[in-house]
Amino acid sequence: MSARRTPPGPSPLAALRGMATGGDLSRIPVFLAKVAATYGPVASWQMPGVRFWFLDDPDLIEQMLTASGYDVVKGRGLRRMRRLLGEGLLTSDEPLHLRQRRLVQPAFHRERVAGYAQTMIDDARDTAAGLADGTTVAVDAVMNRLTLRIAAATLFSAEIDDDADTIGAALTETMEVFPATLQSFGEILDHLPWHPITRRFTAARDELNRVVFRLIADRRAAGDDRGDLLSMLLQSTDDDGAPMPDALVRDEALTLLLAGHETTANAMSWTWDALARNPAAEARLHAELDAVLGDRDPQPADVPHLKFARDVIAETLRLRPPAWILGRRVIRPFRLGAWELPPGSVMIASQLVTHRNPRYWQQPDDFRPERWSNGETAALPKGAYYPFGGGNRICIGESFAWTEAVLLLATIARRVRFRLVDGSPVPLDPLVTLRPGRPMHMKVERRTPALVEAG
Ligand code: HEM
Repeated sequence: MSARRTPPGPSPLAALRGMATGGDLSRIPVFLAKVAATYGPVASWQMPGVRFWFLDDPDLIEQMLTASGYDVVKGRGLRRMRRLLGEGLLTSDEPLHLRQRRLVQPAFHRERVAGYAQTMIDDARDTAAGLADGTTVAVDAVMNRLTLRIAAATLFSAEIDDDADTIGAALTETMEVFPATLQSFGEILDHLPWHPITRRFTAARDELNRVVFRLIADRRAAGDDRGDLLSMLLQSTDDDGAPMPDALVRDEALTLLLAGHETTANAMSWTWDALARNPAAEARLHAELDAVLGDRDPQPADVPHLKFARDVIAETLRLRPPAWILGRRVIRPFRLGAWELPPGSVMIASQLVTHRNPRYWQQPDDFRPERWSNGETAALPKGAYYPFGGGNRICIGESFAWTEAVLLLATIARRVRFRLVDGSPVPLDPLVTLRPGRPMHMKVERRTPALVEAG
């Protein structure tokens, strides 16, 4: 009997229907979850011009993540992002990626991240101070502003203040038109400069370029080290001692700005939503904050002691992973388990699906932060939980993100809790990242009077 060349999967028609969003991207994870439930660890289907392989098995996912960058490249979504992010870390291929990763990595060493922590705490305190008791706020908008401010401050230091709103608006604009450029006709849009989508995108990108290139020029002229990410990028040299060209500094800076704030904003928004729906977890978090911090703000050194806060974040990243899907396109024959994938094949895996696989998770749909410290998750295989990806393309900002999320949670939850205004589940909007599908309006209830903070 000859070996099958592909595992079973949905018919081309069923796949076409499942992946056709009709503008509603939340249909894709629903389709993928159905595929996993029907076909198990690996399923494959043909779409016009490309064969997809969907993985819901930790070992296979790990194989995909650790594949060499000379055998696989990023999927179409991230490649489309090149129009905005150029050859930054997220979107570049080998060998450029590896060289850039070496240059950027020192900016994310432990001591550097600890240096950014005070900015995180200060900005979170300012944000919390502006939350008046009894008011209703869109928590997602508040978190987005806060994480953008932190990303901008750690990347560009103080100079950014005047430009933060411009950058925020331009980034939002590019992300809003991005889904349209992902449709099957997306590439055509690039050649239609008069098209409204292309015009909006180009205008926003030009605005970002204007600000970022000016920041780079000013800093080069000043020639000083501000201890921020921009200084690190400008000081870095390759093996021949050559500095990074401005165009690449721009690509890396925009990549870090975007990758560094949008994901964390989503993680924080979903965390507040989960806490408001799970009073026992919220009470346990408050008890930890009272015990570890008493009546003071966290310090960077407190992060390892805020264990339950970390478990809360870990559980949010499991159920509402900000990066909810990732993919690789095969460029050289690739062995995946028992299968041989020819060039052109596309592998995808979804954290939204695997993080709830009942083979690995007890009560998979429940928000149970305690699972992270009661031994339940200790023996999980690596590829069962991958909110930050893995292999040589693992998130460079992972420890930055953990530090930021724990510090924002502790600094804000010490002062306020958020109450649901609308108890119905918040729909998912799986754009590039997993955003809430409606504004997360929540009511502010202060735990400490605002007056105490001001004084
Ligand atoms: C909760 C927050 C975050 C999540 C869930 C997250 C998730 C991810 C994931 C899944 C990848 C891999 C994508 C792939 O393999 O295709 C990635 C890559 C990346 N992330 Fe993050 N990220 C977060 C925060 C951050 C932060 C704070 C920064 C920077 C300050 C950052 C910068 C990057 C960069 C530059 C890459 C590309 C790395 C490379 O390919 O070498 N991320 N992130």
